[in-house]
Amino acid sequence: MELKGTGFILRGWRLDDAESLQKHADNPNVYSFLLDRFPHPYTMEAANNWINFLQHQDPVINFAIAVDDKVVGGIGLEIRDDIYSKAPLIGYWLSETLWGRGIMPQAVKLLVDYAFASLDIVRIQAGILSNNPKSMRVLEKCGFVKEGVLRKGIIKNGVILDEWIYGLVRE
Ligand SMILES: CC(C)(COP(=O)(O)OP(=O)(O)OC[C@H]1O[C@@H](n2cnc3c(N)ncnc32)[C@H](O)[C@@H]1OP(=O)(O)O)[C@@H](O)C(=O)NCCC(=O)NCCS
Repeated sequence: MELKGTGFILRGWRLDDAESLQKHADNPNVYSFLLDRFPHPYTMEAANNWINFLQHQDPVINFAIAVDDKVVGGIGLEIRDDIYSKAPLIGYWLSETLWGRGIMPQAVKLLVDYAFASLDIVRIQAGILSNNPKSMRVLEKCGFVKEGVLRKGIIKNGVILDEWIYGLVRE
């Protein structure tokens, strides 16, 4: 499974991605905007665990972002159950070495188009920390709508923050 962007691809995770994943993911400037379950420090063991967890995923909904076939980030959906089953969450991160080049807006569009075309879903949702305007901009560039704010909904790095909810619905 491969989705082609300009200068990068989204593809399934491979066992030999661990070293590159560890190198780019082990960064407080990445961790600080993600769920605490994103490992920090990001060890080789964590990298191998993630990749092993995703082997045989069907359908593929968690993609490596690769430049010159080396992993430089990740993007994926989290399918939820119960009454949320048709409204998965989206999450993503990119190596700090590549920020500001328009990679993530393109990656989000690729994933969203693929997901709406091939999964039985009607909505994709994102929760953004209120101190992450870059990520809000990414979603706005992809047509997501800022739908609301959960006041003081988050604690990250010991700081209480609001959570902004963004949504994109299948028209
Ligand atoms: C957020 C992230 C994915 C952005 O990826 P990217 O490929 O660098 O995105 P872009 O190249 O589109 O750059 C970000 C945009 O935000 C804008 N931006 C930067 N700083 C900004 C600020 N303080 N306020 C508003 N917009 C800002 C940039 O100008 C750019 O928009 P533009 O193209 O219209 O000028 C990346 O920085 C990252 O991985 N961060 C750490 C993890 C993370 O935050 N993940 C998302 C969790 S919800």
